[in-house]
Amino acid sequence: MDEGLIWRLLSALAYVLPAYVANGAPVVAVRLVTATHPLDFGKKFVDGRRLLGDGKTLEGLVTGLAAGSSIGALMFLVNPAAFRHFTEPLLLSAGAMLGDVMGSFVKRRAGMERGAAVPIMDQLGFLVTSLLLCWALFGTPRWADPLTIALLMAVTGVLHVATNAGAYLMGLKDRWY
Ligand code: CTP
Ligand code: MG
Repeated sequence: MDEGLIWRLLSALAYVLPAYVANGAPVVAVRLVTATHPLDFGKKFVDGRRLLGDGKTLEGLVTGLAAGSSIGALMFLVNPAAFRHFTEPLLLSAGAMLGDVMGSFVKRRAGMERGAAVPIMDQLGFLVTSLLLCWALFGTPRWADPLTIALLMAVTGVLHVATNAGAYLMGLKDRWY
């Protein structure tokens, strides 16, 4: 790997950190609060199945947004070049939460129970929506080229599986994936 590519990949990983944090925070948060409220308020879609299911909570959403934005705000304070605008970490976090919710919506429509695994969508869906949202609002990030994006997706897939397995071993999750 050439040096430029390594730097672009590292820049990409730093850039998406708010999305990673937003995606992971709910798993920890729901263990810390005494009560959770489903994001779909228990409502069912026209197909008679839950809109999103109990795996998507208001507490998870709020914590994800707060945690992702906070880490991004810190990064922005230390290095203003980390993002193009101070709202970008919030948008990266919001995009991540949106992708996660969309994934649950799709799974419920397919008749899959909460926690059912859909490889690729489970690991990368949040990142795709996060990047698309920021790309639509702020344009292409400086690090972005097809190879760097492909490597970022590959690294994210591995990290996602590894952190989920870690959370399972720590008793934070009921399933290893
Ligand atoms: N979580 C949450 N609120 C969110 C996102 C996640 O409370 N907005 C918590 C839930 O406890 C969830 C866990 O994080 O079980 C893991 O998230 P995820 O794997 O996305 O949910 P699943 O339980 O697998 O549900 P689904 O099948 O809908 O993806
Ligand atoms: Mg899951």
